[in-house]
This record gives sequence, structure tokens and C-alpha cells, in this order.
Amino acid sequence: MPQHIIRAQQFTKQGLQRIFALADEMRATLESGCRQKMREYLSGTLMHAIFYEASTRTRFSFESAAQHLGMNVVSTDNASQFSSAVKGETLEDSIRVHAGYRPDVIVLRHGDDNAAERAARIIDTYGYTTHLINAGAGRQQHPTQAVLDAYTIARAFTTLNGLTVVMGGDLKNGRTVRSLAYLLGKFEDVKILFVSPPELRVGSDILEYLERHAIQYEQSADMHEALERADVVYWTRLQLERITDLDLAFRMREEQVKRFTIKAEHLHLLKERAIIMHPLPRMTEISTEVDRDPRARYFEQAQNGMYIRMAILVSLVQRIEI
Ligand code: NCD
Repeated sequence: MPQHIIRAQQFTKQGLQRIFALADEMRATLESGCRQKMREYLSGTLMHAIFYEASTRTRFSFESAAQHLGMNVVSTDNASQFSSAVKGETLEDSIRVHAGYRPDVIVLRHGDDNAAERAARIIDTYGYTTHLINAGAGRQQHPTQAVLDAYTIARAFTTLNGLTVVMGGDLKNGRTVRSLAYLLGKFEDVKILFVSPPELRVGSDILEYLERHAIQYEQSADMHEALERADVVYWTRLQLERITDLDLAFRMREEQVKRFTIKAEHLHLLKERAIIMHPLPRMTEISTEVDRDPRARYFEQAQNGMYIRMAILVSLVQRIEI
């Protein structure tokens, strides 16, 4: 049976530790220049990357990860225009065809909230062995992003236990915050401060999950106060492409500029050991003058993504439990 990666909740703490250790190993091997050794990990295997939505980091980090590991890669970066979707083919039919070409892994990004479940169901129904990885599904989840986010936090603090994590921005439409909140729910004494305008609050399903897992959370619209309390600041952009009400989009954009933008003048509010993260792409919600501060970790975070995706690909193909 394949081991699909559909949602962040499915990871166990032990599995995460294994992935983090493997990512460290991948980093060390690549940094020591052992490219040939690296390619032996998954030589002769095949990855299909099917992206129906825009992507820079997720696609390039998955494809770079796969190539470093010796996998062959077939991909489309604009499947909504350049695949048979344009002719009206369903996701189910497309996935059945892809799986029939026997890739070891399919990496899928799609605008539908349930795309990954739908794709995995087709693979299972027809008995294929391909592992399906959700690389971002609608407003719902982006599980591998959450793993690389957790890894970035673990590298800075050794543990995720006991941290206060501020998550700000468009919490209603962003999928990375949702997936990371699910992962944080697995650790002890974590506190989450959600910061957003009331219109963009995180979904009640996430809050219910946190309550079930005894994770303390607060919701506010006060960025300053949250920054002072944060060990981790996880800031996100306004998902304008998902806000169809133009008036609301305009108002939220104004709000973001006025009250939810991290600028150099806010850096003194932060603890000395705090870190600032962002899944990227960044619009204007973190001004570029922040980038030089050693606490700004978003570019390192993006690079961690490749090592984590290498670790995930190796785990799936070599059937290490995640
Ligand atoms: C995110 C996504 O696609 O959800 N991007 C990414 O994968 N790093 C965040 C975003 O688009 O805002």
C-alpha cells in the first residue's frame, strides 16, 4: 500500500523526528559535495510533479530534491492550462492516467480543497503503488510546508515544546497556517497567538482541533502586543487570489498596510532569540528592511524545504514510516 501525504495531522512526532534527522543527513551529504553518493538514494525512480496552481518554492524544491536524489522527474507547472484539464478532463481521470505510467511519487498542487484526497482515492481504488504528496490543496492544507516549518523552528530552538508561536496575516484563506497549527498541536505547552483582522480569522475547525489537543490559543488584531510575546513569528500574505469580494479585498489590503506589516521599526519589540518566518511569497507584509535582521529566517526556511522534501521522498520510496 502506498503511503500518501495528505494532511499535516497524519505525521507522528516520532515520524517527524525521523524526517528531521534524514533532512540533516541530506544537508550534510550535499554540503560535503558527495553528489554522486546522493544520487544513489533514489536512482532509477520516477516522480511526476503536477501543479495546477502557481508555485516557485514548492515545485523547485521538490524537483531539485528529486534530481539530487537521482530520481527522474516529469512535471507540468501549469497543469490547468497545459494539461487535458483545459479540455475538461476530471482530476480523477488525469490521476488514473498518471498513475498508470508508474511513477513512484506524484506531487500534486491543486485549487480544490479535497484534491489530494480525491487523487489518493483513485490511486488506491485501482491498486497503484504510487505515493501521492499533497503540495497544496485549495485553502485547506500544505502538509510538507508544515513539516519544513516545524524543522526550521526545531533547528532554531531544538524543540517545539513550550514555544509561543504568533501566526499572522490571512489566516482564513492561507493553507500553510492551518497545516502548521495541526502540527503544533502535537507538541507540549505550545501557545498560539493568531493575529488578523476579524474578517480573516482562522477556521473554527482549527480552533476545535487545538482545544481537543489542549493547545492554548488567543485571537487578536494587535500585532505589537503579539510580537512582544513571540518566540516564533509566522507571518503570511493576503491571499488576494482567493478573496472574490473586491470591496473586502481592498479593505483587507488597506488593513494589512496599516496594521499588519512588520517593519524595521517593530524589530525592537521582538525578543532577542525570536525568529521571523514566512512561507513566501512575500508581498509587502514584511518590509525588505527586516531581511537583514538575524532573526529573519524565511530564506533559510525556503532552503530547508528542499532538505525536508528530500527526506520525505526517501522515506516514501524506501518505505520508512512517517
Ligand atoms: C504557500 C502556498 O502555496 O500555500 N506558498 C508556498 O508553498 N511556500 C504560501 C502562499 O502562497 O501564500
